[in-house]
Amino acid sequence: MKHWAVLLVPLVALIGYFASELGRVDLLLVGTITVDVVDDGSRPAGGAVSYAASIARAYGIRACVVSVAGEDADLSVFAGHELHVVPAAATLTFEHTYTWFGHQRKLRVTANPNVTLSRAHVPRHCQRARTVILGPLTQHELDAASFLEYDSMWDALFRGRQHIGLMAQGFQRRLGPDGRVLPLLTPSPQLLSGLGRSRRVSLFLSDVETEPWSEDWLGLVVGSAERVLITRGSAGATEYNDTGVHDIHIVPVDKVRDTNGAGDTFATGYMLALARGLPDPGAHASWAASRAVMQPQSCKPHCAGDLIEGHVPAWRPADRLAAAAHGLGAAARGLVDRGLREGLAAALHLRQLPPGTLTQMAAKATAGAGGGAAQSGKKKSGGVGGKKLAAGPADEEDDDDDDELASVTVATVTL
Ligand SMILES: *[C@@H]1O[C@H](CO)[C@@H](O)[C@H](O)[C@H]1NC(C)=O
Ligand SMILES: *[C@@H]1O[C@H](CO)[C@@H](O)[C@H](O)[C@H]1NC(C)=O
Repeated sequence: MKHWAVLLVPLVALIGYFASELGRVDLLLVGTITVDVVDDGSRPAGGAVSYAASIARAYGIRACVVSVAGEDADLSVFAGHELHVVPAAATLTFEHTYTWFGHQRKLRVTANPNVTLSRAHVPRHCQRARTVILGPLTQHELDAASFLEYDSMWDALFRGRQHIGLMAQGFQRRLGPDGRVLPLLTPSPQLLSGLGRSRRVSLFLSDVETEPWSEDWLGLVVGSAERVLITRGSAGATEYNDTGVHDIHIVPVDKVRDTNGAGDTFATGYMLALARGLPDPGAHASWAASRAVMQPQSCKPHCAGDLIEGHVPAWRPADRLAAAAHGLGAAARGLVDRGLREGLAAALHLRQLPPGTLTQMAAKATAGAGGGAAQSGKKKSGGVGGKKLAAGPADEEDDDDDDELASVTVATVTL
């Protein structure tokens, strides 16, 4: 009877895991909605999340969208998605001047809702989304670091459970005194903190933002992200990842009608291809962006994904189960990897000890088993802090050992 129970517990846990994965939200989009005031006097809705929402719909995905907007915002682009709006006095308003600098437009902010979105604004069931895409448009509108749920030891176990894509162009924009948008010369603190400590964010920028950076800054950012994708307009894109620097070529189209939202489409296409486990997300993203630039500005962002629709199979329960199995595999690999690394570190640590230490340690341990009680008794009678002190020194010694172990690991990696 007991043997049955031992098998039953992990089985029930596994079934529970797959069942909860089936019900998981596929995509969470977070960022501010804009009103784009264009030369011809029209005021279409815009912003990275608007384009991401339009593209996600083309992929047949119902996303959870968390955004900030005033009463004047046009929210129709989010039809079909689950929309959560944090109300604000004003909607972020960009004035566009179509004077071209390379492929860049001149922008001016004329109204700013002044709300910082964070994970706390996201409903609980959306926080568990399989893929998270963050699309800040200005420096202070989004706390990207708050979305790094597993940014620590747990990350080793949960890597692969949630992909985070950061479309960070807004973090690299500075507002001049007249509201004009200017690029920053170095990566902003918002960008760097949004990458966290454990290299698990996919970062998307365009060459407009990264051009002013020195090699060192670029190296620092690349070293802090899981991958960095820099789009270069008609010159394609560059992917920096664990296997090096890769060119991603554009997919040629007969006629480029409007490049608005091309970068957002690229990023969204990349993240969705990644979640789906497609072999070459970069090439897929490039294809998706090529469909978006074939659409005229007049119908955007609504129509940005229209030429994609029907060309990518929709997510089905089988895909979700496959993604869940993949997540489980990644967690297992994380666990094994961690075990191996710690084991290796421990082995190296032992090898570096002076000869004879092991025998001494063994002798001490044997003596300690008998003498421990007497020792702690002595400390107690010493009196300062009583009980706590007696337990304290032993704990601290353990901690010291851990620290040494950690420093050995680091040294080994550097060598
Ligand atoms: C929002 O604006 C008000 C007044 O302009 C300012 O006092 C406040 O600090 C701003 N809040 C944020 C989060 O920037
Ligand atoms: C790195 O990027 C290239 C080009 O997009 C891709 O083929 C490769 O699989 C990526 N490697 C990793 C580890 O993501």
